Amino acid sequence: RKGKTPEEVVKKYLQKVKSPPEEDCTICMEPLVGPSGYKGPAVGPISRADSVGRLAQCGHQYHFQCLVAMYNNGNKDGSLQCPTCKTIYGVKTGNQPAGKMEYHIIPHSLPGHPDCKTIRIIYNIPPGIQGPEHPNPGKPFTARGFPRHCYLPDSERGRKVLRLLLVAWDRRLIFSVGTSSTTGESDTVIWNEVHHKTEFGSNLTGHGFPDPGHLDNVLEELRVQGITEDDGLTE
Ligand code: APR
Ligand code: ZN
Repeated sequence: RKGKTPEEVVKKYLQKVKSPPEEDCTICMEPLVGPSGYKGPAVGPISRADSVGRLAQCGHQYHFQCLVAMYNNGNKDGSLQCPTCKTIYGVKTGNQPAGKMEYHIIPHSLPGHPDCKTIRIIYNIPPGIQGPEHPNPGKPFTARGFPRHCYLPDSERGRKVLRLLLVAWDRRLIFSVGTSSTTGESDTVIWNEVHHKTEFGSNLTGHGFPDPGHLDNVLEELRVQGITEDDGLTE
């Protein structure tokens, strides 16, 4: 990807710290007043005055070099997430493989939502080869159980969640590639941090209805991914 270097990305979200506090950097666990404990490849020369930075919005402080190392370990999308409080700087994206998201209305009610119809979302992701953003670049990944069908009540709140899920899909945050906690299989497509209901009339897996807290839980999980109600309006 062309554009800013990792150092430039990190610097953009940082404020200068003249005298670091007597605390440890929670990335490397070494004192902020000393050098970064990060032992990987050099991240380029940094002056002593720039060795510690404060994240502009949340105020948490780290070694500059530790933040650059953390950024380099991620998918380098120009965004940064505070490892302490999860505040997101920039727009967070994920590593969901290519595929399709579709939805339509079905004329039946979900348990717990007797007054409305149902939105069915269909995700389809074929197997493929892992890219540089995945755990094992160049190695194949499998994709089990696709198309995956998911359900939301076709209520005002359900439609709001759908709008935000569409944003999450565009940002590649619905699925990722890794090890399935259900099957133990590695190098496979797995749900990311946003829960979906995959059962319609029953609740055998715990991923069905009724579940009165579900929409609130999903909105919170989306917020952790940096997707809020404003996103549903503008995109
Ligand atoms: N439906 C919805 N969410 C599920 C399901 C399911 N049947 N099983 C697990 N999850 C949730 C888990 O609660 C966890 O939060 O997905 C997250 C990741 O779990 P993994 O087991 O790692 O994910 P994955 O392998 O993708 O899913 C397992 O879900 O939709 C089905 O066909 C899919 O059988 C597969 C199962
Ligand atoms: Zn550090």
